[in-house]
Amino acid sequence: MKFVVAVFCLAFAASVHATSIARAKTVVNVLQDLGTENTLIALVQKAGLVSALEGKGPFTVFAPSDAAFAALPKELVKTLEANVTLLTEVLEFHVAPGTALSTDLKNNLLVPSLAGPKIRINIYDTSEPTVITAEGAPVTSPDHTASNGVVHVIGQVMFPVPMGTVVDIAVGDKDFSTLVTAVSKAGLVATLSGDGPFTVFAPTNEAFSKLPAGVLDGLLKNVTALTNVLTYHVLSGAYYLPGLRNGDMLKTLEGGNVTIKNSKDAAAMVNNATIIAQLAESNGVLMLIDTVLIPPPKHFELAEDKM
Ligand SMILES: *[C@@H]1O[C@H](CO)[C@@H](O)[C@H](O)[C@H]1NC(C)=O
Ligand SMILES: *[C@@H]1O[C@H](CO)[C@@H](O)[C@H](O)[C@H]1NC(C)=O
Ligand SMILES: *[C@@H]1O[C@H](CO)[C@@H](O)[C@H](O)[C@H]1NC(C)=O
Repeated sequence: MKFVVAVFCLAFAASVHATSIARAKTVVNVLQDLGTENTLIALVQKAGLVSALEGKGPFTVFAPSDAAFAALPKELVKTLEANVTLLTEVLEFHVAPGTALSTDLKNNLLVPSLAGPKIRINIYDTSEPTVITAEGAPVTSPDHTASNGVVHVIGQVMFPVPMGTVVDIAVGDKDFSTLVTAVSKAGLVATLSGDGPFTVFAPTNEAFSKLPAGVLDGLLKNVTALTNVLTYHVLSGAYYLPGLRNGDMLKTLEGGNVTIKNSKDAAAMVNNATIIAQLAESNGVLMLIDTVLIPPPKHFELAEDKM
């Protein structure tokens, strides 16, 4: 009995201690204590959001580190600093109402942000250690609890705020006009506008222009062949760069696998194509690639004389 009472007292003392610490510190204080969030704090001040984040909340803050901001193009940081409306939107996209600890996060959970658009959470538990991403940004230090929520440090700024599907984004970008033509010719617009989520390896116009003469025209005349090639560029599921492991073989909608190369020393690749950038969208992720992917011969024969 004495033992039980002692344990109870200990537990009680510990919980009082933890609560009083938590009570004293808002998410803003937690950001200050981390010491790696100076840029974020300065931007939050600039946007006039400090008192909001000191409020009742609760808030879940996905907090890009100073290194994450430093990795952004300099021009972009200047634009954000000069445009308080845009800055506010970007910052509010990094905050969700409620307290979501890392243990509450699930693969493909869509967390509403204060800015409106949802933040897609992905958990790659086949990786060792498990990788968690928020809109493709790796969670590098989770679960810093505060009196009014929790802070998860992320290694990348979640920018731009997703404004449409993978199709909407491609349609709005001149660099993808060939891809957009091909996707509509193959009748894949509706599929790729669905909930997904999808990972689309999106060849730029320059990638299409590297195909041997006649191949693109041939594909555009043969919807079966075109569909095979295009669906070989799509994965079911959102695979952001931090979740792609070196040597992964991932099944495409076409049925064949693509092989991932992803190491620290070089740009990530899918088959022989370099991944130039990743753009997070409402129904998945668009990976810009510099080479068109051709399905393996057992699925598809790239015989120019047949087209
Ligand atoms: C169209 O492409 C498919 C798949 O590669 C092929 O089997 C078929 O023969 C092609 N059709 C024509 C008319 O070339
Ligand atoms: C595709 O990859 C999976 C593993 O992800 C593997 O089991 C399967 O054998 C691969 N298929 C081909 C055709 O290489
Ligand atoms: C990559 O390129 C090499 C050389 O051009 C080629 O032999 C190989 O088949 C390509 N691999 C894939 C997966 O496309």
